[in-house]
Amino acid sequence: MSNNLENITVLEGDGIGPEVVAQALKVLDRIGNKYHHKFAVSKHLIGAAAIDITGNPLPDETTQACKASDAVLLGAIGDPRFDNDPNAEVRPEQGLLKIRKELGLFANVRPVKLFPALSHLSVLKPHVLDGVDMVIYRELTGGIYFGEKSRVGDVASDLCKYEAYEIDRIARLAFAEAGRRRGKLCLIDKANVLDTSRLWRDRVNKLKVEYPDVEVSYLFIDNAAMQMILNPSQFDVIVTSNMFGDIISDEASILGGSLGMLPSSSAGTGTRLYEPVHGSYPQGAGKDIANPMATILSVEMMLRDFEMTEEADDVLSAVSYCIEHGLLTQDINPDSPIKCSEVGDHISNAILEKKVAHDFGVII
Ligand code: IPM
Ligand code: MG
Repeated sequence: MSNNLENITVLEGDGIGPEVVAQALKVLDRIGNKYHHKFAVSKHLIGAAAIDITGNPLPDETTQACKASDAVLLGAIGDPRFDNDPNAEVRPEQGLLKIRKELGLFANVRPVKLFPALSHLSVLKPHVLDGVDMVIYRELTGGIYFGEKSRVGDVASDLCKYEAYEIDRIARLAFAEAGRRRGKLCLIDKANVLDTSRLWRDRVNKLKVEYPDVEVSYLFIDNAAMQMILNPSQFDVIVTSNMFGDIISDEASILGGSLGMLPSSSAGTGTRLYEPVHGSYPQGAGKDIANPMATILSVEMMLRDFEMTEEADDVLSAVSYCIEHGLLTQDINPDSPIKCSEVGDHISNAILEKKVAHDFGVII
């Protein structure tokens, strides 16, 4: 691994994964040409695609490739053949959970930004959406996802366990981010019921003295789910456990009109991984209709993490350009949609031609 972005492992995964990743790679290629970067991309198997060929949702060879690269770009994981079979011993999602664990990716960062030109698509009223700009820090390698599991006949159990250090390390990242933003951190938990949530509160309370400029608030997950719809602009930085973060981030994604717009990055002790928040959308697979923007915006996050700021700004402004000009897939342009691959073409052309959206506030 180096501090430069050179070797990128690409995990297309399942369903629409290969299609949205192909568009993100077009964009990356265009950035590489424009700025004279050499990105070496190598594709490896994960998920159902890996099970079909190797029997294993995360072959060792994939793990090694990820560990040896500078960044990982992932499409999507999941296949209805397994969803509909509760007794399947091997499942595609195991590949995703395992790679997160293997790379030590304890912090999943999910920014929720709204593009004004899409606000009419939201199911919420425009005034509710005014000023929405938040980022969710979801713990990604602990909690109920990774606790001991058992199934004996009709009795099943999933243990939810957290240790203080697992909370501290993500809370510190979230505090620091809040300090760089509007100075507000909200811990979402269920401390009125769960011991693990009470530990989260203890730790966040202890840490807050180190961040005097950050104002801390607490919400129970049930109330938070309601607040996300009632008054989403109250949120700046959210920090939360694995499962609550999974749920609240899907909920937050509809604020912007489509789950197809939300990117994410995961950081921790190893190679960082970038992936859209959405799933594998099997009904759309192979039809060239999926929205590639979440994956393309995940590439933007990747470029930013490697301090390629101008490059990242280029990607963001090209995405904004396409949004403003209605060059969009069916989820966000049901009346006159274009194809997934066409969106990829338009975004990469906009990068080349330096087309800049007014939304983004930059004039050509
Ligand atoms: C996500 C997904 C995954 C998760 C699934 C596919 C295992 O929903 O990244 O949000 O629950 O973490
Ligand atoms: Mg999810």
